[in-house]
Amino acid sequence: MSHFRADIRQRAEELVALYPRKRSAMLPLLHLAQEQDGYLSDEGIAEVAALTDTTPADVRGTASFYDMFHLEPVGKYVVGVCTNIACLLAGGEELLEHATTTLGCAVGATSSDGMFTLEETECLADCNQAPCVQVNHRYVRTTTPAAFDAMVTDLREGRLDHDVPTHGTLIRVKRQGGLRVAKDDLAAERAAALAARTERAEAAEAAARAAQEAK
Ligand code: FES
Repeated sequence: MSHFRADIRQRAEELVALYPRKRSAMLPLLHLAQEQDGYLSDEGIAEVAALTDTTPADVRGTASFYDMFHLEPVGKYVVGVCTNIACLLAGGEELLEHATTTLGCAVGATSSDGMFTLEETECLADCNQAPCVQVNHRYVRTTTPAAFDAMVTDLREGRLDHDVPTHGTLIRVKRQGGLRVAKDDLAAERAAALAARTERAEAAEAAARAAQEAK
């Protein structure tokens, strides 16, 4: 029985069908697993492994390379405060310290109500907004303690639900194009690619034979 919800499972199968090799779909599938569970659960990892013809160890090894994937449960909102150089100079450390008080948890921990996990991050590539804050990988552009507190209140009361998706990073990025290629089109493209490969191989073989005969 599938661990994925029916809609997630359907998207997962569509994703797998996009790639010549199933394992190439591993990263988008991990996003889907995280979208459903909030983190990469053992069951989610096992399902990704089955879908990609790999093992849970392969999947876990890949996922552990990327800090966008969570291998343990996290809060509904993962708040990242940058303390790299531009943000450090603009008060990033002070804002991070403030965040521990507002959220009621230490850096790297989750608040007791399960709402927030606080992280200290490296440069988030938004230095002109320093100190930079992200929530669930969305820039929230809240650079002062007062603005941070207001943002937390908005999150708690659901006013940012549209802008800040819960958990997964792809939930708002359900592509209408690339991930929705018709199966017939895919099959035709694959057949054309295979025919071209075969033709090249035959031509190379004929050229090698001709060279051999010319000796
Ligand atoms: S240093 Fe913080 S976003 Fe670049």
